[in-house]
Amino acid sequence: MLIAIDGPAGAGKSTVARAVARALGWSFLDSGAMYRAAALAALRGGDPTRVSVQLGERVLLDGEDVTEQIRTPEVTEMASKIAADPAVRAAMVELQRAEIARGDHVAEGRDIGTVVCPEAELKVFLTATPEERARRRALQLGAEPGAILVEQRIRDERDRSREHSPLQQAPDAVELDTTGLSLEEVVDRIVALTRERRR
Ligand code: CDP
Repeated sequence: MLIAIDGPAGAGKSTVARAVARALGWSFLDSGAMYRAAALAALRGGDPTRVSVQLGERVLLDGEDVTEQIRTPEVTEMASKIAADPAVRAAMVELQRAEIARGDHVAEGRDIGTVVCPEAELKVFLTATPEERARRRALQLGAEPGAILVEQRIRDERDRSREHSPLQQAPDAVELDTTGLSLEEVVDRIVALTRERRR
């Protein structure tokens, strides 16, 4: 089975998807980490379509542990840029499908339910107000919410307006606005939806 969790930056996808995967005993796929690893390769002068990325507790790029390095603002900006390149997307989607084929997964990203796996058993589109999303991300990074909000707007706009696999809600996705909800409430709701789908 596959649960696809898509949505804009800072909606809580990683935290939620990881917690849902743990609750169900399934694997978690962070597709954003793949784009980030490819972006780091590009920043180093490499070819982002020819990377080997291993996901897990640590993220490995061609065997090197880059878990912390892929979270810098420089990599974030580059990931958002290369994610508009169809050749990069094709390479990433291939890696993601290979991983998903290996068993039950909770996968998060921008295009899991629309492009990577349109046949996912459950699709959730996770949202929150831009201010709430920026507040969460600022807490995570120890940064200033105002600056994050500006950067987030640019990335959201780029994700939504790009020609290839733009960020959009799949018609059969359940929209879940997490503004004002606790992590536990969001996870419980998704686990309940999963149980409903399985029946
Ligand atoms: O954590 P945050 O939501 O800010 O970003 P992320 O999920 O780690 O993804 C980093 C960038 O990769 C995003 O800004 C997207 O442009 C891109 N991305 C994508 O295009 N498709 C995906 N399935 C996942 C990420």
